[in-house]
Amino acid sequence: MAKVIDGKEVASEIRRGLAEKIQRLKEGGVTPGLAVIFVGEDPASQIYVRNKEKACEEIGINSTTHRMPEDTPQNELLGLISKLNDDPGVHGILVQLPIPKHMDEEVILRAISADKDVDGFHPINMGLLLTGQGGFKPCTPYGCIKMLDKYGIDIRGKKAVILGRSNIVGKPAALMLLHRDATVTICHSRTDNIAKEIREADILVTAVGKPEMIKGDMIKPGAVVLDVGINRLESGKLVGDVHYQSASSTAGWITPVPGGVGPMTITMLLSNTVEAAEKLC
Ligand code: GUN
Repeated sequence: MAKVIDGKEVASEIRRGLAEKIQRLKEGGVTPGLAVIFVGEDPASQIYVRNKEKACEEIGINSTTHRMPEDTPQNELLGLISKLNDDPGVHGILVQLPIPKHMDEEVILRAISADKDVDGFHPINMGLLLTGQGGFKPCTPYGCIKMLDKYGIDIRGKKAVILGRSNIVGKPAALMLLHRDATVTICHSRTDNIAKEIREADILVTAVGKPEMIKGDMIKPGAVVLDVGINRLESGKLVGDVHYQSASSTAGWITPVPGGVGPMTITMLLSNTVEAAEKLC
């Protein structure tokens, strides 16, 4: 039976440490500030944004959400980003994705000052990650690595297989695992014989958005399974990309959904924001 990687527990522990750092910053006259920009009305984003606001409030980060209508001209959004880049009370800026179709995501993400890019999506931070030079790291894969470390799970020399090649999860997860000396394979929708790759994985990271696609008999016995998927079934139940029940009888370690990777994503956003405040003041 797999041991559970409890993201909620790890997140609480990290948040306690962050609260102390925030206290010290406040004693020095600095309150970390996060600006969240939310364009449109994507229902999943509504929930994410509300959770971010709540997490900031709980820990003592000053968060401001800028809501803009779906039909906002791109220039108006760029104007707001430029204002926030220059605002000394704002240490982190985040544009909630997805943005409306008439906007160019690359242009928007590039407009955020790399020093305030707490999502780690700016090409400068992506480049720093690629070359192993630091910079802000994307929150979800960063949270995955932190969980492995908290449980003392070895990465070095292991075969890590990542399902999904997005800029937000798959690619940065691959780089972070590579920097920790894993042998990394990224699989995607065009990968030949994906089942063979999955079966060979010592560490499996799934970020595909297909409910319960990975069953226990597809996994290598003892494998570490990090399930990044958050899928809502018609019944309303939240499930991952992994079929938890069958996978937990094969895997050595597994993250549940909810309560695994999810709580870590916002935690690493808080962590990046505190780091930005420490650097900028
Ligand atoms: N949409 C889905 N995940 C994310 C994320 O991590 N950051 C932002 N900005 N938008 C998202």
